Amino acid sequence: MELPPRLRQAVDSALEGVALSDLTAAARALSLRYRNEVRDGRLHIADERLALAYIATRMPATYAAVHASLAAAAARQPDFAPRTALDAGAGPGTVLWAASAVWPELASITLLEASPAIRAVGEKLSAASSLAHIDWRHVDVTRNAGRLAPNDLVTLAYVLDELSADQRDKLVDRLWSLTSGMLMIVEPGTTAGWRRILDARRQLIAAGANILAPCPHQLACPIAQPDWCHFSARVARSRVHRVAKEADVPWEDEKFIYIAASRTPAASHPARVLAPPDTASGRVRLKLCRPDGVAETRLVTRREGDVFKQARRRDWGDVLEI
Ligand SMILES: C[S@@+](CC[C@H](N)C(=O)[O-])C[C@H]1O[C@@H](n2cnc3c(N)ncnc32)[C@H](O)[C@@H]1O
Repeated sequence: MELPPRLRQAVDSALEGVALSDLTAAARALSLRYRNEVRDGRLHIADERLALAYIATRMPATYAAVHASLAAAAARQPDFAPRTALDAGAGPGTVLWAASAVWPELASITLLEASPAIRAVGEKLSAASSLAHIDWRHVDVTRNAGRLAPNDLVTLAYVLDELSADQRDKLVDRLWSLTSGMLMIVEPGTTAGWRRILDARRQLIAAGANILAPCPHQLACPIAQPDWCHFSARVARSRVHRVAKEADVPWEDEKFIYIAASRTPAASHPARVLAPPDTASGRVRLKLCRPDGVAETRLVTRREGDVFKQARRRDWGDVLEI
């Protein structure tokens, strides 16, 4: 997955003239705070240097994860065509770009962000977008987010890990109350990220939400620790990205987990592939979460005809009609 060309160009020009050594040092500092899930009352992206490091080293990965999550949810509700969106903890506007790639009919988005530094970068990038109405607001989403109208699509990407448990619960409730169509929450694909998504899932089901994806059911999650549910997106690294990350490989795999909830039920409930398929001649072994709430590893052989034809083309995160 690569950033859309307009965004790629906007990121490149925002990074023009920035010393690579500064970017590398800032990327290292940022990564340490994210990896350790530091919650010291300060925002991670506190200044312009860190904001530029974020767009160089994290935005390509969060874009890929958000895009994959939105596309998976869109596939479960093909008639959903959002015109309005609200994004909480918008950072550099990652969701704006991913949502308008998945739903080109999107006409307006409100972006709530507490860090002036990343908001300034996000505003600059979003000037290159073709979205008709873009409304950036300086808002702490754990406090009063001000007067907000319900939106077709509401999103919260890579933000829950920066909040306390109490703040998370309140925010999920508030965002659901502002959702007229679909609410999407995306988190890092760690065990901690998965547990936060499980909490949000329970809360949303209790509030009457319909789970669209990735789960094909509303029953208790059948995955038990030390296992956890997560997915992966392959991200192309630009030269600046590689240098800032002190990495040689021209790609990275971003692990993520998400939950999509809707005011209307999913059109269908196919099983979800929970791990990379194990494929050999004439057979494929798939780890599946099934619509009846059971997780299983299923061996599909050539003898199963159409199911086999479907299964051998499936990848981690895809769905399978069984
Ligand atoms: C990891 S970034 C994710 C940005 C973007 N959603 C993405 O997926 O790339 C988390 C963002 O949430 C913002 N944030 C954290 N706590 C917030 C709060 N209480 N109110 C508003 N924004 C917040 C941070 O400043 C940061 O820009």
